[in-house]
Amino acid sequence: MDLILRGGTLPDGRKDIDIGIEGTRIAAVEVDLPASAPEEIPTHGRLITPPFVDAHFHMDATLTAGRPRHNATGTLLEGIAIWEELKPSLRHDDYVARALRYCDWAVARGLLAIRSHVDTTDPELTGVTALLEVREQVKDYLDLQLVAFPQDGYLRSPIGIGNLNKALDMGVDVVGGIPHFERTQAEGTESVQLLCKIAAERGLRVDMHCDETDDPSSRHVETLVSETTRLGLQGRVAGSHLTSMHSMDNYYAGKLIDLMVEADLHVVANPTANLLLMGRRDTYPKRRGMTRVPELIAAGLNVSLGQDSVMDPWGPLNAADMLDVAHMAVHAGHLSGRDEIRACFNAVTESPARTLGLDGYGLEPGCHADLVVLQASDPVEAIRLRPTRLFVIRRGRIIARSEESEVNLDIPGRPSTTDFTIQ
Ligand code: FE2
Repeated sequence: MDLILRGGTLPDGRKDIDIGIEGTRIAAVEVDLPASAPEEIPTHGRLITPPFVDAHFHMDATLTAGRPRHNATGTLLEGIAIWEELKPSLRHDDYVARALRYCDWAVARGLLAIRSHVDTTDPELTGVTALLEVREQVKDYLDLQLVAFPQDGYLRSPIGIGNLNKALDMGVDVVGGIPHFERTQAEGTESVQLLCKIAAERGLRVDMHCDETDDPSSRHVETLVSETTRLGLQGRVAGSHLTSMHSMDNYYAGKLIDLMVEADLHVVANPTANLLLMGRRDTYPKRRGMTRVPELIAAGLNVSLGQDSVMDPWGPLNAADMLDVAHMAVHAGHLSGRDEIRACFNAVTESPARTLGLDGYGLEPGCHADLVVLQASDPVEAIRLRPTRLFVIRRGRIIARSEESEVNLDIPGRPSTTDFTIQ
């Protein structure tokens, strides 16, 4: 073996596990692995997980908060307006520098795969060119998957159709859309139909911003799953945000969930982003605006969580930590049962790996040796503490490491340190 992690706990609960790595792959996962390696890391029962995966992000806009101004109303629409003001001034090197800085943060958090939407309604496609370059630059340490996202509308923007096709020709991976931002419900429907057809013809996956609105009568999820089934795209299509489902009539939501199951739709909820953006015109009670995560998980759908925004016109906070997102989902979705908290951990690891179609992801022999050791004992504690990532390993190489964190105390009669655990 080239590297062995000794005595870890796995997300499924297995304990005292050794993980042996040969080259870039996991070679063994067992108790008391009878082998040695030049480097052996004792993990002392700490959680070893495959890397975090962000199913929904906007890397072209990240780290621009305050340029040219902050979002005063906190709404999705003001965010879009600020992005429109900023976009013409953004240059290639600016996109690249921000994206690379963000990817450093991601690696430090054990976040090694990101699906990022990239705005294709910039006339010069500067962001697309830049993020394609970044995808190449980071590929040895982070999987970046790009979605062609017509921010100003596929039909509503005069360059929406042409530029989306150009972006796909340039090598963008996934077909995106924003039907609720088209001028009418009918044009939103038409955009979903056209975009799914493009995906079917090109053999690509789809990830659509869909019904990111408080409007309970928005019906684009219905069209998305109907087109998915009609075109045989089952399992290849993701619906992102889906916040209208929060406000829908329960009877209709039940019918829609059945259709989503039929289409094997991947669901991506973005709790940190949508708790800020939605319900802004409500008085009290204020809707939370997160889609129906518990019901969607219960229906057997593959539900992932995404960060959406980190310091951009839509969200001023966040710092590349998918455990922050899972923590928010627990609270916003009433997901406080032990199995539900574990499901939220799954929604930032295994589930988004499936949504992105990542090859060789997991903790079985033969999988890529991509691993994160956390200063926590299990997934529930990981979400509670959002702890230090002690080791981040990519293809068998340690690419980030941190010291264990604890606080020194000086209180007579009390222990000299605490680390927020109960042991
Ligand atoms: Fe988004």
